Amino acid sequence: MRAYQQQAEIVRSEKLSDDIYRFTVNMADIAAGSKPGQFVMVRVAEGLDPLLRRPFSIHQVAKGGLVQILFKVVGRGTRALAGMQPGQQLDMLGPLGRGFAHDRPGQHYLVGGGIGIAPLLFLAKRMLKTVEPSAIRVLLGAATGTELDVLGEDFASLGIDVQLATEDGSLGEEGLVTELMASLPPGEGTVYACGPYPMLRVVAGISRKKGWECQVSLETMMACGLAACLGCAVLRRDMNGYVHACKDGPVFNADEVAWL
Ligand SMILES: Cc1cc2nc3c(=O)[nH]c(=O)nc-3n(C[C@H](O)[C@H](O)[C@H](O)COP(=O)(O)OP(=O)(O)OC[C@H]3O[C@@H](n4cnc5c(N)ncnc54)[C@H](O)[C@@H]3O)c2cc1C
Ligand code: FES
Repeated sequence: MRAYQQQAEIVRSEKLSDDIYRFTVNMADIAAGSKPGQFVMVRVAEGLDPLLRRPFSIHQVAKGGLVQILFKVVGRGTRALAGMQPGQQLDMLGPLGRGFAHDRPGQHYLVGGGIGIAPLLFLAKRMLKTVEPSAIRVLLGAATGTELDVLGEDFASLGIDVQLATEDGSLGEEGLVTELMASLPPGEGTVYACGPYPMLRVVAGISRKKGWECQVSLETMMACGLAACLGCAVLRRDMNGYVHACKDGPVFNADEVAWL
């Protein structure tokens, strides 16, 4: 699959909470070629500091060649990115990696934790082209309600059943998103999950017990995004070598991963 490097104009910047931002950028080639679960590598500042691009999931694509990324400020690169304004250009490389396979039968459970929710909106919208809304359930979790309210409404506006969990109980159920999975029926179904590694390990375990296929998007450290630095290695389940998140993932079948 072809990847493009483009200068993309930021056409909109939204601040969804204290530290979560959503940028809409104009990049037609990447918008046209993207699949849910794929990502872009972004140069987060116009100068050379920070030097390395940062990976971000493709959050949504829209007509007119528009692409969105949703990001949380966690360090130097994302802080620099948050300071960029509409009209400025972002240097982007993508679409990269292997996304979700969503041509599965049965129920579809989209499970997102924290900023791991980012790729799931694109997935839900693509899925709705072939799947009835009643076959999709979205479970979202975060530390507190301000990280979830806008995103929860974005999914609900698609006519999909959405359940929320927050650790402080300020929105939805009090607790972890994985606790919401307990009430779902076992049987034919697929889980599509993205979030912190410990959450994904639990999601993988619950899915195995319920008999669901489970696809996880892993957010490893990534320096190049192009299978050149080998920094994104993930130990295989058989402990016999590594796969690489930027090339073989970031979406993996949960059974491929060692879950250390
Ligand atoms: C395929 C993929 C998709 C991603 N999608 C998104 C997304 O849609 N939205 C979003 O906000 N973030 C996403 N991330 C994580 C994002 O790339 C990092 O948060 C970002 O690179 C941090 O850059 P920084 O310079 O601000 O932080 P740094 O100053 O580099 O680090 C700050 C802290 O964040 C941790 N950190 C840095 N990079 C990562 C990483 N890749 N994974 C986990 N922890 C990290 C560091 O260990 C450190 O504790 C994704 C990561 C991958 C691999
Ligand atoms: S990020 Fe460099 S090999 Fe994957």
